[in-house]
Amino acid sequence: MNDSPDTTTKANEPQLCLQDVCCAYDGVPVLSHLSASISPGETICLTGPNGAGKSTLLKLLNGLIFPEQGTYLFEGTAITASLMRDHRYSKWFHQRVSFLWQNPDTQLFCSTVTEELAFGPIQMGLPSAEVRQRVDDALQALSIAHLRDRAPYSLSGGEKKRVALASLLTMNPAVWTMDEPESFLDAAGRAWLMEFLQALQRAGKTLIMATHDRELLQAFGQHTLALTPASSAQQAG
Ligand SMILES: Nc1ncnc2c1ncn2[C@@H]1O[C@H](COP(=O)(O)OP(=O)(O)OP(=O)(O)O)[C@@H](O)[C@H]1O
Ligand SMILES: [Mg+2]
Repeated sequence: MNDSPDTTTKANEPQLCLQDVCCAYDGVPVLSHLSASISPGETICLTGPNGAGKSTLLKLLNGLIFPEQGTYLFEGTAITASLMRDHRYSKWFHQRVSFLWQNPDTQLFCSTVTEELAFGPIQMGLPSAEVRQRVDDALQALSIAHLRDRAPYSLSGGEKKRVALASLLTMNPAVWTMDEPESFLDAAGRAWLMEFLQALQRAGKTLIMATHDRELLQAFGQHTLALTPASSAQQAG
């Protein structure tokens, strides 16, 4: 990548690596001595009951919170609060690693769907023709062209979820972290989501998703990271 920080992945290096990570809120432990390695193009499902720390782990992987102990490495670089204050690095990082929030209301903040989808590509500094093309492609891919001029707050839950997914797609990130991507979607929406995720896999994207959905786990749960409340995690399969 041109004009990016020196963060090239070395051969055989995991893309994301957690080394003995501990995380707590106000002294209350949530993640305890968690270690895991995720390779480029891998799919991994985060499982565990409510409160087990799935969303917390996704926030950590996105550089929004940081370990109290242990290290999180992205492409060999330790992700720390001071590194994420480096605007150049954090901008590059957030183009590589994307986050679908558990609740789309947390994700969507622009006045219209079109503005929402254009926001990321504009931040990336892409030329306006390229921004328009990415927005149009995402509107088509997510079947939401009819919503383009709507205010995100006025959409239904399932519509918001599609807009949120489209806003990730316009960034074309290498890593998709998703917090319960199935939530708010009806049966048809979930069937569509399966195909969408399979297309991302074929495109070589790394997928990390927290889910409670049996069908998603059946289709994508060959590798899981099972979290238990305030405790250690076990990696399975
Ligand atoms: N900002 C915060 N301040 C204090 N405690 C928090 C904060 N965020 C999360 N927690 C607590 O950390 C624990 C893990 O929360 P988290 O949201 O990561 O769980 P989860 O596995 O995603 O649960 P769910 O399946 O309900 O989405 C919970 O006990 C939660 O109350
Ligand atoms: Mg959660």
